[in-house]
Amino acid sequence: MDKNLALDFVRVTEAAALACARWMGKGDANAADQAAVEAMRTVFDAVDIDGTIVIGEGERDEAPMLYIGEKVGTGTKRMKVDIALDPLECTNSVAFGRHNAISVLAAAEAGNILHAPDTYMEKIAVGPEAKDVIDLGESVETNLKRIAKAKNYDITDLTVVILERERHKDLISRVRKTGARIHLILDGDVSAAMATALPGTGVDVLMGTGGAPEGVLAAAALRCLGGAIQGRLVPRNPQEAARCKQMGIKNINKIFKTEELARGNNIMLAATGVTDGDMLKGVRYTSTGAYTHSIVMRSKSGTIRFISTEHHFTEEPDYH
Ligand code: FBP
Repeated sequence: MDKNLALDFVRVTEAAALACARWMGKGDANAADQAAVEAMRTVFDAVDIDGTIVIGEGERDEAPMLYIGEKVGTGTKRMKVDIALDPLECTNSVAFGRHNAISVLAAAEAGNILHAPDTYMEKIAVGPEAKDVIDLGESVETNLKRIAKAKNYDITDLTVVILERERHKDLISRVRKTGARIHLILDGDVSAAMATALPGTGVDVLMGTGGAPEGVLAAAALRCLGGAIQGRLVPRNPQEAARCKQMGIKNINKIFKTEELARGNNIMLAATGVTDGDMLKGVRYTSTGAYTHSIVMRSKSGTIRFISTEHHFTEEPDYH
């Protein structure tokens, strides 16, 4: 993949963020999502790739745009790229004016992104210092001890991010018993996973169960950031278990490592903040346009760029 595509991908996530941030606090998650999807779909038409969506808005019969298998890009260059995307990660955060909503997409050379079913995934994610010591097969306590040691921290100084959900009651109580600090979030475990690998976010570990597609997006980011994630699928019912099998996952209990979720040496990820988060600022509209804040990274070079963009709306945006 051409390194210059990175900027094209940012333009795609910026467009989605700009469109859906208008819906902040209006209580309409579907409208916010729809706005992000439409804007992302439009801007993708100008990107010079032969792209196929492998993680998107759902199956063809349930999503009119950005569905799994849909082709995106101009298709003129013979660059076959697989795309995992979430035009609006944290729909409710936008609807209710809360933290952590982003627009995000990951790209890799064809065949390198796990086709994750739309089910749950148990996850543990960390930054570079602790990437070799995590093991989802071990207990919460063992993992936290190992991570603290790898980071040369006292365990009481570790901050663990967990989605605030009923299903995490036991996890939260076990983490508390170790003495580690907990940062509970209402939504957004993709940016939380990314934050574990970025300096200055104050976040060391992500633990708990969230969306499986979000786990793959987090893996793509952590491949670029030098961190690690492990994930185990958690189907919620027999239909989801059957879907996992249908998508080629033979062993449901398998623990997927970062390199199995996002493979190869050429991965890119772009994300733009929609509402404020630990990592990115949300969209700010002004009298003449708007400001966006994005991150874009490449696994090949290890480059991480934060991009602040000033947009002017005096004319219709021209993406071509
Ligand atoms: P959506 O944008 O699809 O609502 O995802 C938000 C999110 O918080 C993810 O970050 C997380 O992986 C997932 O939902 C957790 O699922 P649930 O809300 O069902 O616990």
